[in-house]
Amino acid sequence: MERAVRNILVTGGAGFIGSAFIRYLLSSQTQFEGLCLNLDALTYAGNLENLRSVENDPRYCFVHGDIRQQSLVQDLISEHQIDTVIHFAAESHVDRSILGPQAFIETNIVGTFHLLEAVRKHPHVHFHHVSTDEVYGSLGPTGVFTEETPYQPNSPYSASKAASDHLVRAYTHTYGLSTCLSNCSNNYGSYQFPEKLIPVMILNTLNRKPLPIYGEGVNVRDWLHVDDHASALYLLLKKGRKGETYNIGGGAEWRNIDLVHKIIDIISTIEQAPLTELQALITFIKDRPGHDLRYAIDCSKITRELGWRPSRTFEEGLRETIDWVIQNPLWIENVQSGVYRQWIETNYVGR
Ligand SMILES: NC(=O)c1ccc[n+]([C@@H]2O[C@H](COP(=O)([O-])OP(=O)(O)OC[C@H]3O[C@@H](n4cnc5c(N)ncnc54)[C@H](O)[C@@H]3O)[C@@H](O)[C@H]2O)c1
Repeated sequence: MERAVRNILVTGGAGFIGSAFIRYLLSSQTQFEGLCLNLDALTYAGNLENLRSVENDPRYCFVHGDIRQQSLVQDLISEHQIDTVIHFAAESHVDRSILGPQAFIETNIVGTFHLLEAVRKHPHVHFHHVSTDEVYGSLGPTGVFTEETPYQPNSPYSASKAASDHLVRAYTHTYGLSTCLSNCSNNYGSYQFPEKLIPVMILNTLNRKPLPIYGEGVNVRDWLHVDDHASALYLLLKKGRKGETYNIGGGAEWRNIDLVHKIIDIISTIEQAPLTELQALITFIKDRPGHDLRYAIDCSKITRELGWRPSRTFEEGLRETIDWVIQNPLWIENVQSGVYRQWIETNYVGR
């Protein structure tokens, strides 16, 4: 059965994945005719420049606000006849959660609670919760996470996401909310804030700066292109079974050190630079406390039930991402200089 998706409230739509989802939703790849309301607090990770290509689309509207403002969310649902909420808003960087966990508790747990409370007052609304594979903990050299793998989060970030997943589950069970939950592996692609592994490594290689790698670089992650995540999420909004969890992954497991070598190889080809010059930038640094060794995800459920699979290989997606970084120096410069924040303040803050 296909769910009618008319007016969508997207939380955190100015972030990396939320903005990719909005660009996908409003692209010719969907026949979306409703309203897409983007509620975002514009923390350091929120960047409206990610949405330049859609900001004048009549189907798109930005609201500057916090998911913890329960009455604001309720008003938005009523005023705009929202039938679907997709929840991306979160603090999302593991290293930041180790340095300062409080914001993760407040946004990821308390924020999700307020959203669920707002949705509870509008029982016709379907709620999709975007989560991570990190809730499952760490794997040894073999095995994969399935939807049945017990939760064993190891960082303040993953613990806060696990708590929010449990809240979604409890609201479904207790109050009968229509929900769906997805746990996805590491995303990469264009517009990713340059604090995460792939954009840092691309930029530092291009700028001939050290490439800091935790420990011995043997930690393994599964990688999915953000546009493939967006297509999976849209499919789940329409066809995901109520109350179900779906794993989403790229089937692309890479050790960090091998991933960095891959980036170096591609950039060396593009720039015709000697490999040894770029390889010499690799710098091993003290490991992240509690660093999970390996994540790997079995996403056969979403493939079996809905026919979803990633549309590009990791190598293709990585090459595309490197090309994007090279072709978009202004976006990078505006993020690094903080100009993207000034633009936000001039346009929205205080209105
Ligand atoms: N990045 C990944 O690899 C990955 C993988 C799997 C799942 N996820 C999940 O996907 C979601 C999006 O991740 P991302 O990488 O795009 O994150 P991001 O950090 O790039 O973006 C988060 C967005 O949420 C907004 N936000 C933060 N707190 C808010 C609040 N209180 N109210 C309203 N808006 C707020 C920020 O301004 C920002 O625009 C998160 O829930 C994350 O846990 C991320």
